[in-house]
Amino acid sequence: MLNALKPQPADKILQLIGQFKADERSGKIDLGVGVYKDPTGLTPVMRAVKAAEHRLWQTQDTKTYTGLAGEPAFNAAMADLIFGGAAHAPRIASVATPGGTGAIRQAFELIRMAAPGATVWVSDPTWPNHTSILTYLGMTWKPYRYFDGETRGVDFAGMMEDLKAVKAGDVVLLHGCCHNPTGANLTLPEWAEVAALLERTGATPFIDIAYQGFGDGLEADAAGTRLIAERLPEVLIAASCSKNFGIYRERTGVLMALGAEAGRDVTQANLNFLNRQNYSFPPDHGARVVTTILTDAALRADWMAELEEVRQTMLSLREQLANELRTLSGSDRFGFIAQHRGMFSRLGATPEQVERLKSEHAIYMVGDSRLNIAGLNRTTVPILARAILAVGI
Ligand code: LMR
Repeated sequence: MLNALKPQPADKILQLIGQFKADERSGKIDLGVGVYKDPTGLTPVMRAVKAAEHRLWQTQDTKTYTGLAGEPAFNAAMADLIFGGAAHAPRIASVATPGGTGAIRQAFELIRMAAPGATVWVSDPTWPNHTSILTYLGMTWKPYRYFDGETRGVDFAGMMEDLKAVKAGDVVLLHGCCHNPTGANLTLPEWAEVAALLERTGATPFIDIAYQGFGDGLEADAAGTRLIAERLPEVLIAASCSKNFGIYRERTGVLMALGAEAGRDVTQANLNFLNRQNYSFPPDHGARVVTTILTDAALRADWMAELEEVRQTMLSLREQLANELRTLSGSDRFGFIAQHRGMFSRLGATPEQVERLKSEHAIYMVGDSRLNIAGLNRTTVPILARAILAVGI
């Protein structure tokens, strides 16, 4: 049986981890996978996470199963973090999931169960795992224009033009903030225009929000999601705690489905069913850590303060890189780096230029020229800037 299996293509983001590790050059720079690193190159355990884990270690007296949907307190705390009251609680069905990817997978399966013929519209480009999972599940998906290769901003006119073809019952996948891989984001008035288009067409928005707090702040980063939740009758939301709580390997996420109150119990039963089919109970430790932090005023305040430090660090690296490139190139053509938000920016380089950055300068980024700003520090920014110009970007 096993010899009937065909080789699988390596994941283009994750394979960079191995390549970087194997590179013996000193001074190599990893701008690949989307993991926050402090200026010393460490992905730290956040202070509030340590404190919450310590508290759990002292007080937790059982590790028996939770509910299929996870702990209700976690789901409620995440709804509060994301909606800030914008969604009426009785509209929300939700399940804890193994990370944001787990939530995305469950959402796609829910869509397939509810609307087998639906087309899922994804931004061009999007996180490659979105389309990989959709293809694996045999679902129909189509790209909509999103990134303007000239300005490195959002091609909003192109996006709206493409979304005119969306049909009632289709699903439109949107990045809640900090678009991955481009770093280019919708403004709030643009979110409102997208909401109006979705209202007109009868399509369902599906928001993937994996970087809340990394862009313009916890509240601002959720503003588009909140607007959609207020305006549309049905919304799916996949949220990740990997980045903003720094608990990547704990696999902590949530899938929320907003709909009519009358249908909530059936939606919830379907979400529970999907959890049961795929892994029974969702992981608990990370969810419990997050709940402990979000429901304790002091821990929450400390977490928010540290998250803000992380955000400010990335913003100042953006500014530094854009300034350095302005000075070295004598032009403003890299100004977009300071405008982008979140961990990523798409440089707009060719695959050959990305390859040269790796082979000639030991600088690793994803082949589509997505760089992880958090992989830099004040010393490596000028090195990157010189290398970008040296390979002709
Ligand atoms: C990324 O885009 O680098 C992260 O979301 C990590 C991943 O799983 O791809």
